[in-house]
Amino acid sequence: MTELFQDRPHLEVNLFDALHRGNPQDTAFYRRVCRNAQGVLELGCGSGRILRSLRTSEGRRVGVDLDRPRLARAQSLDESSICSWIRASMPCLPFRKHSFSHVLIPFNALFCLLTIQDLTRCLREVHRLLTPNGSLYFDVYQAETASSSEAPVEDDAEDENGFFWIEQIEVQGVLFDVFERDQPHSRHGRIDVVYRFVPQGAEENLPATSEIEIAHCFRAKEEIDIHLRDTGFDVLECWGGFLGQTWSEHSEMMVYKASPATP
Ligand SMILES: C[S@@+](CC[C@H](N)C(=O)[O-])C[C@H]1O[C@@H](n2cnc3c(N)ncnc32)[C@H](O)[C@@H]1O
Repeated sequence: MTELFQDRPHLEVNLFDALHRGNPQDTAFYRRVCRNAQGVLELGCGSGRILRSLRTSEGRRVGVDLDRPRLARAQSLDESSICSWIRASMPCLPFRKHSFSHVLIPFNALFCLLTIQDLTRCLREVHRLLTPNGSLYFDVYQAETASSSEAPVEDDAEDENGFFWIEQIEVQGVLFDVFERDQPHSRHGRIDVVYRFVPQGAEENLPATSEIEIAHCFRAKEEIDIHLRDTGFDVLECWGGFLGQTWSEHSEMMVYKASPATP
């Protein structure tokens, strides 16, 4: 058990990945839309779950993330070095104009941009990097219907610090109980989520828990549409799921396709 906690960054990537498994059908969706791509950029790629799953014929593939340990994991899993993994922030991207036919921002990564300034700077960057006929694809949970995870059924399911149990995961051969605490922020739409991982059978003299904090700013469809248009995009599609479901205000997610507006 002690060795488990010695390489903290390694453990935290494993815990993050075990919890962030994506949505059903998302990998198949991104593979499908990238079939004829001439260069794919994924923003907020994490350990490269999506980018590594694309087929090899899509030309240059680049993953961008801020988190060094997750990028290192992406690199180590990319055994044939098919992709490039770059540390950069979504609002400021180190690539030339028109470098990619496809930009992907999967699994709520767009909501990691907490201010409107960062969101619009990111969209302007994507616009600059896309070829004129290129497309931006992203998916986010719908603000009105999303609970950041499985919310507790009853108030007394929460402990005195506001944590509630969500699931059990196995990481490095150890079972962890995962607890979540959601803290709405004074800024509209922002929720700071803390995941607490408690290994089963933790001995008393060990750091028994590990925590990962993630801040998200949920945005409604109307707001996303306005920012896309203001940054020069045409919204071509907003589906309610990865199988092309019609979007409604009751959909759990929004799956977008947008392209640079024709002048
Ligand atoms: C929910 S994860 C999504 C990971 C991956 N796209 C997937 O589908 O599994 C969001 C990722 O966005 C990254 N991220 C957050 N803010 C970022 C920023 N400003 N620039 C680049 N990456 C960022 C986080 O480090 C995290 O790896």
